Amino acid sequence: MHRRAQVSPPLHLESAVNSAVTASVERCIARHGRCPEALIEILHALQHQHGWLSPPALAAVSRGLALPLSRVQGVASFYHLFALQPPPRHRIAVCLGTACFVRGASALQQRLVQDLAPGWQLEQLSCVGACAQGPVLLVDGQIAGLAAMELLAPAAGVS
Ligand code: FES
Repeated sequence: MHRRAQVSPPLHLESAVNSAVTASVERCIARHGRCPEALIEILHALQHQHGWLSPPALAAVSRGLALPLSRVQGVASFYHLFALQPPPRHRIAVCLGTACFVRGASALQQRLVQDLAPGWQLEQLSCVGACAQGPVLLVDGQIAGLAAMELLAPAAGVS
């Protein structure tokens, strides 16, 4: 599997991002109310805007609602609908339903586990009703057959 080193943004850029997140949190608090009862609505609105709940966003909510950060993090991590990691740039799902499985989906999944490039998230799913194209892949929500995998492979980092 390919790994890239984590690169931190320059400090001035990180500061600008945190200011934007704080401003976004303040707009949500203004809309939903500066009270602890609005916590879930505010988290939901922030996730809708940003795609996930970043640590600076959770810290800004904690400050804005005068709640302990541990409580904000506890609520955010309790509900599965809240994402505490940034969404992947691309998702690829392998169907492991019976028809796809007997056509080599498991081997395909192993190949993807080993070689998928950063930015791609691998998932698995059950039958999507396209068994005749098996083994079926879903690439960013679109059904693709094995032939598409050969076209996709270079972009996804799969050799
Ligand atoms: S088993 Fe994979 S699409 Fe039906």
